[in-house]
Amino acid sequence: MRYDSIVKNGYYLEGELAAVRKEVAININKKINVLELGCGTGLLAENLNLEFKNIVGVDISQNMLSVAHHKQIYESLVCSDSIDFLSNNNKKFDLIFSCSMIQYFSEKQLMLLFELVNNTLKNTKSKFIFSFDIGNKNCINNKLFFEYTIDSMEKITRKYFKSLKIQKLDFGRIEHKKVVQCGLVICQKK
Ligand SMILES: C[S@@+](CC[C@H](N)C(=O)[O-])C[C@H]1O[C@@H](n2cnc3c(N)ncnc32)[C@H](O)[C@@H]1O
Repeated sequence: MRYDSIVKNGYYLEGELAAVRKEVAININKKINVLELGCGTGLLAENLNLEFKNIVGVDISQNMLSVAHHKQIYESLVCSDSIDFLSNNNKKFDLIFSCSMIQYFSEKQLMLLFELVNNTLKNTKSKFIFSFDIGNKNCINNKLFFEYTIDSMEKITRKYFKSLKIQKLDFGRIEHKKVVQCGLVICQKK
């Protein structure tokens, strides 16, 4: 699949994905309800090497979900836009995570996403872990991805969550032969 070669050539597994996976691995256990937004082909979940299946995966692309489905690592998979899913779902989750999806969200969409994620987290110990693309200013780049400065992402996150940690990664991924700087955020329900 084309996505797999992009991932391999971009050292995504060693960069952004490894950083998010490390935080998820620290926080996941078999007793909690977990939601992954923009799960794609299930690369992060499969690399968690879990013996239990308690992750609900959501992605807007049925093609990506078909690949994830064959890996048999998710409790269930839902083909939906993340905002639509969160708007219509009644289940609460102890842990929500998202790797490399935030770049598809404008600031306005991001604020709605964050509000819905906060409402979907179970209690004040519940966490949201995500990565995003860093830019020198908030903008949409030539790949039509949204980039955010660390400061503005911290400001937006604090508005909706109890912000715990925001970290610039040494290496995010490579795209079109250029390094993409990524940030990692770990926050809790407000
Ligand atoms: C770069 S891929 C990352 C996939 C996966 N998280 C991983 O680490 O391999 C981004 C994924 O986000 C999904 N996506 C983009 N916008 C979305 C949205 N609004 N709601 C749900 N999924 C979305 C895409 O279909 C794609 O599978």
